[in-house]
Amino acid sequence: MTRTVYVNGDYLPEDQAKVSIFDRGFLMADGVYEVTSVLGGKLVDFDGHAVRLERSLSELDMAAPVTKAELLEIHRELVRLNGIDEGMIYLQITRGAPADRDFAFPDPAEVPSTIVLFTQNKPGLADSPAARTGIKVISIEDIRWGRRDIKTVQLLYPSMGKMMAKKAGVDDAWLVEDGFVTEGTSNNAYIVKGNKIITRALSTDILHGITRAAVLRFAREAQMEVEERNFTIEEAKEADEAFITSASTFVMPVVEIDGAQLGDGTPGRVAPRLREIYLEESRKAAV
Ligand code: PDD
Repeated sequence: MTRTVYVNGDYLPEDQAKVSIFDRGFLMADGVYEVTSVLGGKLVDFDGHAVRLERSLSELDMAAPVTKAELLEIHRELVRLNGIDEGMIYLQITRGAPADRDFAFPDPAEVPSTIVLFTQNKPGLADSPAARTGIKVISIEDIRWGRRDIKTVQLLYPSMGKMMAKKAGVDDAWLVEDGFVTEGTSNNAYIVKGNKIITRALSTDILHGITRAAVLRFAREAQMEVEERNFTIEEAKEADEAFITSASTFVMPVVEIDGAQLGDGTPGRVAPRLREIYLEESRKAAV
């Protein structure tokens, strides 16, 4: 089945969807994005993603090309047209395509933003084998820009980080700045000590994960203690457990950091429980 995608108001077969070579997303990485997961054909945490998108756009003085209600409708229509039961929807909005390359922002009245959405079909996303074994990470220096709270499409360094992890024979990388873990290349990072979940506090240093917000809420509701503070790789290596969260991995246990095995090298108790709660609650609340 050919995938149907959405480009600037039209639903098209993927091979007919086109964006200008002058698009600022292409030339300048001048764009923002969101990834929303789909479970049981419904959207997980749609509202959170829509609110963060609005914030990313406003922080960059970029106009929203569609309303939140229209955005929901487009997401649902793509799920329907592509028959998605489990997977993701990728959304990208850029500052549009001016007539030529120019560092200055174009006038939004003259250059409309570009909006693109497509589905990623991932049957078995919730029942991921990696969640049963846990993943391994290495640490690398965090040399990204200073506004990581804005979800921009500047993903070269995260891509390089994933490649460094691959080269090291592991699954992902945790980023470290001034001695402290910021987050994963495309996820938020956590350690567990006893019944306490420790994760970096929100600031411009990390992306304010939508999954993070939900998972911390569920953890507190389940009487787990949550401490939002910095932690080092050394502390993480000594932790009972570790895990990451994102819209594409939900809650994923981490069983090895820089070659050091955590606990007995299996996912432990807290992360799998949180994954279970997150999936259960997300299915119930999906729209
Ligand atoms: N990444 N931190 C970074 C740097 C991320 O790129 C992401 C998401 C997260 C988790 O955010 P959320 O829980 O809202 O997905 C944290 C997406 C999934 C991606 O780039 O594919």
